[in-house]
Amino acid sequence: MRRLLHVSASPRGAASFSRTVGEELAGAIAVAMPGWTVIRRDLSLTPLPHPGPDFARANALAPDMRGPAEEEALARSEALIAEVEAADVLVISTPMHNYTVPSALKAWIDHVVRPGRTFRSTPTGKQGLLADRPTFAIVSCGGRLGDPPAGQADFLTPYLRTVLATIGLSRLDILCLEEMNRGPEKVAVARAAARLWSAACVARATAPPGA
Ligand SMILES: Cc1cc2nc3c(=O)[nH]c(=O)nc-3n(C[C@H](O)[C@H](O)[C@H](O)COP(=O)(O)O)c2cc1C
Repeated sequence: MRRLLHVSASPRGAASFSRTVGEELAGAIAVAMPGWTVIRRDLSLTPLPHPGPDFARANALAPDMRGPAEEEALARSEALIAEVEAADVLVISTPMHNYTVPSALKAWIDHVVRPGRTFRSTPTGKQGLLADRPTFAIVSCGGRLGDPPAGQADFLTPYLRTVLATIGLSRLDILCLEEMNRGPEKVAVARAAARLWSAACVARATAPPGA
């Protein structure tokens, strides 16, 4: 069985633009490739705690130095990493909050991006330990990205690229839904672009490995 993991971060439930487009993409992939299962990790419905002192201590210890208490502190992180490892395709849908990822998504990242587990440090830099796989991110913004005054800074998409590449996920396509707070016409334009983008993503997600 092949799996698609949809990690969604919007607090806006079914009204969320990013989650809706993420669900449409997941559904289109599942239809194109019967037998695929969609796993949903809704970070708003089930928020993750921020890393606490036990997590920080356990995370800094080499695996052979950890006892049962440290293993317990990392159990949630291990389950989240296992979810990513089991996924053939990853979809991340998120709003932009104050120029970057919402804290709900940052907490997920902090549990998944771990030294000695999903990346290692080498003399030539950090090296990802997860197998690469097609990864699609849908980012929804109220305004426009780009240079001021018309646009605004984007610390989200470069960050997402860097942090996912850190753990080995470099096959990342990002769609930005812009100006979603500027009326139905802007929303319609963004949704039309999303449909075209999703169709191209389905082809990439379902291509045989190495194609
Ligand atoms: C706390 C908060 C911060 C936000 N910060 C930004 C921002 O920096 N730039 C922006 O364009 N929109 C910002 N927005 C608007 C959302 O990005 C926008 O409404 C987006 O379409 C929501 O996506 P969703 O429908 O998937 O939840 C912010 C919204 C909230 C609630």
